[in-house]
Amino acid sequence: MLVQPYSLMAHAFLLFLLFPYIISTNIHACKPTERSSLLSFASTLSSPPLNWTSLDCCHWKGITCDQDGSVTHLLLPSKGLKGGIPPSSLRNLTHLTHLNLSHNSLYGSLETQFFLSLNRLEILDLSYNRLSGELPLSLPSSNIRIFDLSSNRFYGAIPSSFFQQASNLTSFNVSNNIFTGYVPSSICLHSSPSLRLLDFSSNLFSGNLAPGLGKCSKLQVFRASHNNLSGLLPEDIYNATKLEEISLPLNSLHGAISDRIANLTNLAILDLYFNHFGGELPPNLGKLSKLKFVTLDLNNLEGALPPSLMNCTNLVELHLRSNNLEGDISILDFSKLSQLTKLDLRNNNFTGTVPVSLYSCKSLKAIALGRNHLEGQIEAEILSLKSLSFLSLGYNRFTNLTGAMKILMSCKSLHALKLTGAFEGGECHLMMTWLILTDSKIFSSSVWVIVASLVKYLYGYQSSRI
Ligand SMILES: *[C@@H]1O[C@H](CO)[C@@H](O)[C@H](O)[C@H]1NC(C)=O
Ligand SMILES: *[C@@H]1O[C@H](CO)[C@@H](O)[C@H](O)[C@H]1NC(C)=O
Ligand SMILES: *[C@@H]1O[C@H](CO)[C@@H](O)[C@H](O)[C@H]1NC(C)=O
Ligand SMILES: *[C@@H]1O[C@H](CO)[C@@H](O)[C@H](O)[C@H]1NC(C)=O
Ligand SMILES: *[C@@H]1O[C@H](CO)[C@@H](O)[C@H](O)[C@H]1NC(C)=O
Ligand SMILES: *[C@@H]1O[C@H](CO)[C@@H](O)[C@H](O)[C@H]1NC(C)=O
Ligand SMILES: *[C@@H]1O[C@H](CO)[C@@H](O)[C@H](O)[C@H]1NC(C)=O
Ligand SMILES: *[C@@H]1O[C@H](CO)[C@@H](O)[C@H](O)[C@H]1NC(C)=O
Ligand SMILES: *[C@@H]1O[C@H](CO)[C@@H](O)[C@H](O)[C@H]1NC(C)=O
Ligand SMILES: *[C@@H]1O[C@H](CO)[C@@H](O)[C@H](O)[C@H]1NC(C)=O
Ligand SMILES: *[C@@H]1O[C@H](CO)[C@@H](O)[C@H](O)[C@H]1NC(C)=O
Repeated sequence: MLVQPYSLMAHAFLLFLLFPYIISTNIHACKPTERSSLLSFASTLSSPPLNWTSLDCCHWKGITCDQDGSVTHLLLPSKGLKGGIPPSSLRNLTHLTHLNLSHNSLYGSLETQFFLSLNRLEILDLSYNRLSGELPLSLPSSNIRIFDLSSNRFYGAIPSSFFQQASNLTSFNVSNNIFTGYVPSSICLHSSPSLRLLDFSSNLFSGNLAPGLGKCSKLQVFRASHNNLSGLLPEDIYNATKLEEISLPLNSLHGAISDRIANLTNLAILDLYFNHFGGELPPNLGKLSKLKFVTLDLNNLEGALPPSLMNCTNLVELHLRSNNLEGDISILDFSKLSQLTKLDLRNNNFTGTVPVSLYSCKSLKAIALGRNHLEGQIEAEILSLKSLSFLSLGYNRFTNLTGAMKILMSCKSLHALKLTGAFEGGECHLMMTWLILTDSKIFSSSVWVIVASLVKYLYGYQSSRI
């Protein structure tokens, strides 16, 4: 009588041991080593329960296995995971191809061991955590395609050997960390011919951009904004003809933008604000028919606007504030820029009258012409801009304030109007401008306008974009 339950138990125990293998014949149950790896990974994390309790880990939340019951996907983004990634916990997951732990609260450094056995990894996304430490000497696997460590606290230089075996890398994002040293812009010279996306923004990278980007024949997005980069744009960047976006604002780059930029026929975004770029705008910039966003504020650009720019029919925003640009803008024909929503020419040396063709850009929401040497009158045609909500004309030499006010009072969409010093006579008209606005019943937001003008008058041009 005593034997029976005992043998029953033994039987059950045997069943328990064999269970994974029994069910693996029809549904792919996970291997015990993989199960224990996952449990050891989860054990150090304090987080809402993952419900990883059943025997077959292949059915656990976030887990996918292959035919043989090996874990291939570990996808736990935004699961409130908190804690360090134990160094060896994932070591037995030798078939892992996809690892996504983004948007959690993981901390600590990635030990070399973390990568050691993950030599099939194709996609690694650890973005939006609090991970820190230096990068290991090389990428985890030669199969890696997407590598995203952005928005963490990694530091140190990117080792020169890092990309050695990364021949299938398409996307590399380390933005928003504390990396130092050089941007590895020569990455395509030795490896990674498939790169499409490179993001080094918001780190402490410094020094020159080394040549090599020209060999990135598939590169679409290149971002390294908000670093400490200096020197010239590497000449061969103009050879990367698939580029759709170049974003390098908030650095100390200088030199001219070469006319060879006209070779980048796919370019839609050119963002170089707050650098020391000088010289004239490339005369053939307007050959880039896909251009949508051009942001070149706060540089030392000089000369006139290239007339070709008026051929960029897809242009949505043109920001050229605070340069040394000059020339008569009345000769420019804006009539083809039907997508243009924002035009910012503030704080330059432009002359001439506001071209009437500008009033045919029906999408315009904001026009900023303040602090130039513009003259002439504001024409009634401005009323055809039905979406215009921001107009800055301050500090110019316009004439006929009374006429302008009569017209602008019919401009129903206008929310902010900056007229301080816009008209001949300058400061004398300041009070008058305000009075007219205050009395106007048509400006529903007239109080707003006055406050906005006052703030700008007192504190200068703090508002970043328009
Ligand atoms: C990995 O597997 C080995 C046996 O192959 C085992 O000794 C070790 O404990 C496992 N590691 C983890 C973290 O599960
Ligand atoms: C965990 O799973 C059990 C059943 O397997 C279910 O009742 C419970 O709601 C689950 N908990 C969470 C947090 O998903
Ligand atoms: C990781 O998961 C997040 C959330 O689902 C997703 O937005 C992101 O695209 C994933 N990363 C990769 C590389 O697929
Ligand atoms: C790169 O990807 C291709 C196709 O996706 C694959 O056949 C090849 O094995 C990969 N190369 C490496 C080094 O992983
Ligand atoms: C890189 O990651 C950040 C988030 O950390 C994201 O905002 C950015 O868009 C990504 N870069 C690219 C080029 O996708
Ligand atoms: C920025 O780079 C310059 C040299 O190019 C260096 O002297 C300076 O220390 C760097 N600043 C920071 C904050 O890294
Ligand atoms: C750009 O490409 C052209 C043609 O392929 C080549 O002759 C030239 O040397 C390259 N320029 C640079 C700076 O690499
Ligand atoms: C690039 O542009 C320059 C001048 O704008 C031109 O001479 C050259 O042929 C173009 N192509 C390449 C690959 O450089
Ligand atoms: C604008 O495009 C037209 C038609 O393609 C062309 O004839 C003209 O020369 C271009 N204008 C400028 C200034 O490049
Ligand atoms: C405008 O030009 C004058 C000289 O003609 C120069 O002193 C001034 O700095 C320029 N202003 C701007 C904003 O470029
Ligand atoms: C001022 O503008 C108004 C409205 O456009 C116009 O009727 C008037 O003739 C202008 N006055 C002068 C002196 O040009």
